[in-house]
Amino acid sequence: MSRSAHPAGPRHADVMTEGHYTAPPADLNALDAKVWARTVTRDEDGAVTVGGIEVTRLAEEFGTPAYFLDESDFRARCRAWADAFGRDADVFYAGKAFLSRAVVRWLKEEGLNLDVCSGGELTCALDAGMPAERIAFHGNNKTVEEIERAVTVGVGRIVLDSFQEIARVAHIAQQLGKRQRVQIRVTVGVEAHTHEFIATAHEDQKFGIALAGGQAAEAVRRALTLDGLELIGIHSHIGSQIFDMAGFEVSARRVVQLLAEVRDEHGVELPEIDLGGGLGIAYTSEDDPREPHEIAKALGDIVTRECEAAGLATPRISVEPGRAIVGPTAFTLYEVGTIKPLEGLRTYVSVDGGMSDNIRTALYDAEYSVVLASRTSDAEPMLVRVVGKHCESGDIVVKDAFLPSDLAPGDLIAVPATGAYCRSMASNYNHALRPPVVAVRDGEARVIVRRETEEDLLRLDVG
Ligand code: LLP
Repeated sequence: MSRSAHPAGPRHADVMTEGHYTAPPADLNALDAKVWARTVTRDEDGAVTVGGIEVTRLAEEFGTPAYFLDESDFRARCRAWADAFGRDADVFYAGKAFLSRAVVRWLKEEGLNLDVCSGGELTCALDAGMPAERIAFHGNNKTVEEIERAVTVGVGRIVLDSFQEIARVAHIAQQLGKRQRVQIRVTVGVEAHTHEFIATAHEDQKFGIALAGGQAAEAVRRALTLDGLELIGIHSHIGSQIFDMAGFEVSARRVVQLLAEVRDEHGVELPEIDLGGGLGIAYTSEDDPREPHEIAKALGDIVTRECEAAGLATPRISVEPGRAIVGPTAFTLYEVGTIKPLEGLRTYVSVDGGMSDNIRTALYDAEYSVVLASRTSDAEPMLVRVVGKHCESGDIVVKDAFLPSDLAPGDLIAVPATGAYCRSMASNYNHALRPPVVAVRDGEARVIVRRETEEDLLRLDVG
């Protein structure tokens, strides 16, 4: 759901008939820098390259479908976020977007912290050497075992999401003889302009404790009285794939208001606020994402201004970008298998992956773009729908796009901006084998998550 599909108004279908997809782009071979990882270009033979390596070579060596991740772009984006927020703030990469041990090492080297939301993500983080104090633990229903582990290893913070969890974490910490640093996640009542399934600050949903009706103030009251907890701040995450800074500003303002209420009631100034992740990226040329320094300035200014007005010292700010760091750094490479022109409608192009490696189109009506990657072509554009090989007609990767009309089986096509929430949400539907993630940097490519094998599938099937 790029912004064009979900402004406050028209649905995807309206945009498709009225919007840019009714007209093909001027040059089908062009690679719009907005949607591609930074080192992606075409070589003189016309093949798309990343990190200096042609996709034709990558496909030969690693097969398709596969995700190719531009490591230097990933690292550059980490640095851009860290530099933009500076020493007085913390950037936590949201591991749910895509996590592997290599990624954890890159984050550690580039000075970022990590947000995890399950025991599995915590294991990956610790195994790759992320210091526990640089980890934040999230989730609306953490298990007792997860909480015990998080407290035992000493994660830097646990973000509390319910009244039960406040009591549960306090009890576990006390039993373990620890005082756990915690934040309380609040819902600030903002209607974020994004898909319903990934908007999280309106009140009618499962995350957080509402500011409305004094619920969040009551949560603070309870947390402050419990010996097992050290309440360090308030957390708000308003949703994902958001372009409009207004929602973040309202959220920041309301969180600061709560800090002021807490100061007035308890004489305590909570030292930190976390404004979550959710910054949008470009999936198509229609999207215009904000740069980290613009975001840092907007958030910093509003928090400083509101704190001054309330007579509070400015708290330490943290943010949790996931998609904005990893999303643009990777593309999925597919091989075209069959091409089916439907007279007067469109041409269906079937690839060797599908909803098992990118569920976002089916789940959120997300928009993607696509290019012919193994060569260039001067053929006329044809309107296509790129579909997968699964037994389901909703198995769509790119709903509407243009590809050259001489497209043929065996051609490689690439879908950009698939670094976030594609491999991490991949499935084994139809016993599909989840594709590898290959990191490419300075002319070298290495597998960081290998392709699943049929043996992997059978190993889990113990029957
Ligand atoms: N912090 C918290 C507490 C979150 O719940 C999330 C995302 C993030 C940070 C990172 O958000 P990001 O910067 O990546 O937007 N599967 C959906 C997105 C779900 C996001 C869930 N939480 C998608 O594919 O669009």
